[in-house]
Amino acid sequence: MSAPSERYTTVAIVLHWIIAIAIVGMLMGGWYMTNLPDGAPGQYDLYQFHKSLGITILLLTVARIIWRVMNPPPALPGDMKGWEKSLSHLVHIGVYLLMIALPLTGWLYSSVSLKLDVPTVLYGVISWPDMPFVEGLKTEAGAGAANRAHGMLGFLAVALIALHIGGAIKHEFGAEDGVIKRMAPGLFGPDNVFAKPSRGALTAFGSAFALLVVIAGAGPAMSALSGAGAPVASGATFEPNWAVDADASSIRFSGIHDGNEFSGQFGNWDAAIQFEPTAPENAEVRVTVSTASATANQKLYTDSLPSGEWFNTAAFPTASVDILDIASGGDGTYTSTARLTLKDLTVDAAFPFELQIDGDRAQMTGQAVFQRTPLDLGQASDPGADWVSEDITVNVVVEADRLN
Ligand code: HEM
Repeated sequence: MSAPSERYTTVAIVLHWIIAIAIVGMLMGGWYMTNLPDGAPGQYDLYQFHKSLGITILLLTVARIIWRVMNPPPALPGDMKGWEKSLSHLVHIGVYLLMIALPLTGWLYSSVSLKLDVPTVLYGVISWPDMPFVEGLKTEAGAGAANRAHGMLGFLAVALIALHIGGAIKHEFGAEDGVIKRMAPGLFGPDNVFAKPSRGALTAFGSAFALLVVIAGAGPAMSALSGAGAPVASGATFEPNWAVDADASSIRFSGIHDGNEFSGQFGNWDAAIQFEPTAPENAEVRVTVSTASATANQKLYTDSLPSGEWFNTAAFPTASVDILDIASGGDGTYTSTARLTLKDLTVDAAFPFELQIDGDRAQMTGQAVFQRTPLDLGQASDPGADWVSEDITVNVVVEADRLN
């Protein structure tokens, strides 16, 4: 029997087992989540978790490859046959390629999918942008090919993992000195020692972290450059006689997503109001809203709203609302129609509101309910309202001071 071989470094061992467990979980989770019926409770969160863990595996694999280059693994036991060593090397190369290709094809698919036009927010905290330079693949055919590649690599991974485990078991219990104990010290007999001191932790993990910072930072940098968030003006053609107190006023929206209520608000809007309580029918009200200023109670929703199928903020930076046909119902209650123009589509909704005027100060609260379909909102990823409710409720609070 040959001399006991060295074991892997502690960092290599920890990375190996974390990534191994994560990949097995990802394979099982991937097939499980894609077989759920559309809109099944929790499916949305499972997809987000799948993407988060997949990107984590990609970054850990980058660290692992750099670590391996800086800390070459111990040689295979000398009593393994030549062809066994070659096969072992081939399987190892294949597994490394898969650890890169599986997350990359997953990222590619979620970047070009028409059905899943949903942003990626790692663990609900870090915005992860779509893959750059692949816009041209955002077609039925391109997305289909990326999806098939990702799924087929999953099957290939099962085959290679089986070969990898089979080889490890054979050489642990065969005539050789054993290989599993090199990666799982103490599990099968005495712990082999890693002779050389390890190096390069900062380079390996620093590079993976730098990659995370650069890619995750690219999204916010692009939107800052696009000028989103510049103040909007109402653009009204009439002379207003009320000035809105922006700090005391709000436009909020809410609905249901995956069984839970979501809510959000527009941070940047302007309203021009010409209103006399004695003649409400002559009132003119125009509200202009910066679509890019919408924020929601979850980062995932905030990141989703600017996309093409929701507000499409790049093409339609503002939306406008005209309040029409105002009529008094007595006791400070009014009926009216809110005419919303969003993405060049115009819809009307009933807008009942209450108004109290105290001296020169007015306070108004009102509510309108809009439907997503006529406004072409979320029609690519969720046309059947499986995840996001068809009804979106808008609540408006305005406090204003009389100008003249
Ligand atoms: C090692 C990492 C990964 C593994 C092992 C893995 C595995 C899988 C598997 C087995 C499926 C089911 C495929 C099928 O439909 O037959 C799947 C689906 C999916 N994966 Fe991954 N994945 C990984 C990384 C990623 C990453 C990084 C992303 C995106 C950032 C991603 C996005 C997706 C999406 C969106 C689906 C659903 C496809 C559909 O709905 O048809 N995956 N994954």
